[in-house]
Amino acid sequence: MRIDVVSIFPDYLAPLELSLVGKARTSGILSLHVHDLRDWTTDRHRTVDDTPFGGGAGMVMRPDVWGTALDDVLQDGAHLLVPTPSGTPLTQRTAEELAGEQQLVIACGRYEGIDARVAEHYRGHPGVRVSEFSIGDYVLNGGEVAALVLIEAVARLLPGVVGNPHSLVEESHGAAGLLEYPVYTKPPQWQGHDVPEVLLSGHHGRIERWRRDQALERTAARRPDLVERLDPDALDRHDLVVLAAHGWVPQGGRLVRAVDGAPEV
Ligand code: ADE
Repeated sequence: MRIDVVSIFPDYLAPLELSLVGKARTSGILSLHVHDLRDWTTDRHRTVDDTPFGGGAGMVMRPDVWGTALDDVLQDGAHLLVPTPSGTPLTQRTAEELAGEQQLVIACGRYEGIDARVAEHYRGHPGVRVSEFSIGDYVLNGGEVAALVLIEAVARLLPGVVGNPHSLVEESHGAAGLLEYPVYTKPPQWQGHDVPEVLLSGHHGRIERWRRDQALERTAARRPDLVERLDPDALDRHDLVVLAAHGWVPQGGRLVRAVDGAPEV
């Protein structure tokens, strides 16, 4: 896979030389190129922004500078990604889809964002897909950190990047739709806290059940939005007992919060 990042702060992307992403680059699995947007400016001051039409605070990034940069960087079949707090939420499913692309181009905006015509223009380009994405409901100073997040989430899914592909199977936000169970290692006692007995039992069936219970309990406690998306028909009886203890019951093909008081007849 090839990833191009365009930013006015290319140094912000320096961490991409480290860890698994860095290794993926040196091993040739990932070809990653970081560009300075100002290299496409033509004026003495290397200007990338201007005041917003219609008034208001802050500055907006100019479409002409972005246009020349993106025309140079986008290859046929590219997916143009624009990080913005007003984009669609980035999820593990998005990362999985993007891991199958040939080229990702990430256009990092600063200030009040990039002139809206840029995304509109490239949406009309044959052979280019455009997605505006958000990494969460908070506002960053620019798209660079969101680009780092996206690249790490995608790169670890490329074959050969994570040493043991099995570690991708059971993690949070995986196919099960549950948060991951808690994990422990040596020593078995630490600061008065013991590793749960069952994990030392060597009994694989019991360990698996305990881990699933923990995953269900954590998900129920922390992410009711994920519980609402579970398919009750894909859960076993024990799963339903655990969820019922947290106030979730199957109704009409989905899980709903049990209402206190007398059951309806
Ligand atoms: N740029 C600024 N805030 C952002 C966010 N939450 N997600 C993606 N890009 C951003």
